[in-house]
Amino acid sequence: MKLNFNKDYMESLIKNYELKLKDHFTSQGFIDSKQKFGTEHYKLFMAISMQLKNVSILEIGTHNGNSAIALSYGNFAGNNIKIDTYDIIDLLQECSRNFFNKSNINYKLENLFDINVRETNKDKILSYDIIFIDIDPHEGILEYEMLNWLKDNKYEGLIIFDDIHLGLGHTANNYRTTEHSMNDFWGKINDEIKKDLTYIGHHSGTGMVCFNFDKHEITY
Ligand SMILES: C[S@@+](CC[C@H](N)C(=O)[O-])C[C@H]1O[C@@H](n2cnc3c(N)ncnc32)[C@H](O)[C@@H]1O
Repeated sequence: MKLNFNKDYMESLIKNYELKLKDHFTSQGFIDSKQKFGTEHYKLFMAISMQLKNVSILEIGTHNGNSAIALSYGNFAGNNIKIDTYDIIDLLQECSRNFFNKSNINYKLENLFDINVRETNKDKILSYDIIFIDIDPHEGILEYEMLNWLKDNKYEGLIIFDDIHLGLGHTANNYRTTEHSMNDFWGKINDEIKKDLTYIGHHSGTGMVCFNFDKHEITY
């Protein structure tokens, strides 16, 4: 994959279709998508999406649907991006659901962190170009297990994690308060295979991991 994370370049990429999202994002999602890089992650995802063609993306942690919509942004430019997004409870908003139904976004309620489900879907999971993981509670335990599984299975795509700088005691979406920290999870990952994108992503932390960065052409 070829990606350029230069802020001015990314800004220039996304301006053409921004208004199209007004009816699809939730109202908060639309506000967040217009924030500066380094505030929320949607703008970064829209800019990534504009640079990809004929790829498939796996998202784990759909919530209201905003991040999947941002990741599919390049489809407004005909980029042919297919997204499979998973959650374990249905928190999808009606506006997002309508958008999913008429676009290349497939929504499933299934737990890919369950070892049996993951093994059943192994070939499919390993075939995605990008995997975005953003699950509650944000503790870094399941994330680390998944990361090791992807490494053991020689996954060479990009893995993006949200909220990598969250500490202990975080609560969201009626999940229990965190007892482990995402910061510790991020700290355990070898420097050579990770890149902190918080400065252009989500203020709570956006991290990218790849077991073979040489396979991709990424400029910052
Ligand atoms: C912070 S929200 C995701 C936000 C969304 N990615 C965005 O950026 O707009 C976290 C979501 O993870 C979901 N979740 C928790 N455990 C999960 C699992 N094992 N698989 C998939 N989703 C999970 C929660 O139900 C919740 O909707």
